[in-house]
This record gives sequence, structure tokens and C-alpha cells, in this order.
Amino acid sequence: MSLLPQTNQLRALHTVVRNRGVSGREFEVFSRRIIRLLLEAGLDLLPFEEREVTTPVGETYHGLGFTRPVCGVSVVRAGESMEAELREMIPGIGIGKILIQRDRRTKQPELFYHHLPAGIAASHVLLMEPMLATGGSALAALDVLRKAGVPDENVVLVNFLASPQGLERLGREAPAVRIVTSSVEDGLNEHAFMVPGIGDFGDRYFGTV
Ligand code: PRP
Ligand code: MG
Repeated sequence: MSLLPQTNQLRALHTVVRNRGVSGREFEVFSRRIIRLLLEAGLDLLPFEEREVTTPVGETYHGLGFTRPVCGVSVVRAGESMEAELREMIPGIGIGKILIQRDRRTKQPELFYHHLPAGIAASHVLLMEPMLATGGSALAALDVLRKAGVPDENVVLVNFLASPQGLERLGREAPAVRIVTSSVEDGLNEHAFMVPGIGDFGDRYFGTV
């Protein structure tokens, strides 16, 4: 697991978005700043190969590029909060969607729909799921990717908040998946919400609380 550097700046952003009284617009803007950091860190976990370009002064720059195409897959609904940022970072990037909802009573994830980019089996995948509570939703999404031929090694889970239980479960059931997160929480409460937590990320981001 790769935890974003816990800088004062990052903690200040978390202080805004975790405050129950923050406005919906502020929640969106400040969480998007954290999302940007997560996506940049997630891309940094992918393999690169050497690339050369000619600069405007006619010289060669010895640089790097991704070894294979990259696409994003969001776990709807909360994961959709990361799509716009990724599309601004990599113009034209393919985005797949997997609709998974936790049953309100049992907290078990249910898969309703998925639509993935063509050629995903040969791509690296940024799997966008902001919340890792029990880890059930992320694992259900991973199952969809596996069935589409994506090996776990090619998946980076881009996550906003993780519980120790969720991380432990992912580590056990999907050890090859790399995870980038901005915070590891203390644990889960009786409603399977993370504590201290951020509440329902999807509801707060999309203003449906
Ligand atoms: C929430 C959250 C994660 C999931 C995390 O989704 O957005 O997807 O729960 O919990 P887990 O790790 O225990 O599976 P929810 O089903 O509430 O829907 P939403 O994304 O539409 O808010
Ligand atoms: Mg969800």
C-alpha cells in the first residue's frame, strides 16, 4: 500500500472535507484536490519505458513513457468523482464503469452493471474506488476486471480512505493489486462506516445527503 505523504497541506485538505458542516461545493473542490494527488501517485506506480523526443532546440530529451495503454474504471457511484480529474490529466483516456451498491442491511456489495473499454485486458487500469471499508465493493469490482482478462498486477486501486480491515482483506485476497490512498482510518463502526471517516462519500460529493 502506498500512502500519500502526510504533509500539512494534505492534512489541511482532509480537515476541510471531513468537517460535517462544510458546503457541498467546498467538499467537491477540496476533495478533488486530494483526488488529483491520488491519481498522480497512482500513475507513478505504473511501469515506464525509455522514450526519446526532440526538443524545440533540436536536441534529444531522454525521457519515459508508459509501457502500455492506461484506462480508468470507476466503481459507481462514489468512484465517478475521480473521472473528471483523470480525463483532464490524460485527454481522451478510456473510462469504464462498474455499478456496485452495498445492500443497506447486509452491507454486501451487489453488482448491477459494467461496461469496460475495449482492449482493457492489454491495458493498465486505474480502478477508482474512494472508499475501502470492508473491502467488499473493491473486491467485487476486481472480480469484474479479472473476468475481463485484466491480471491483478495491472491494476492500481486509487482510494481516498481505507480501513485497516479493508486493506488487510485486499492484501489477502488480491495481493498483487497496488493501492494508493490518502488516509488509513482507525477502523469501522457498527454500520460498516469508517471512523473517524468522512461519511458517505458519494452522497456528499454528488449532493444527495
Ligand atoms: C460505499 C462506498 C464504497 C463502498 C465501500 O458505496 O462508495 O463503494 O461503500 O464499502 P465496502 O468496502 O464495505 O464495500 P455504496 O454502496 O454506499 O454506494 P455509493 O458509492 O453509491 O455511495
Ligand atoms: Mg460505492
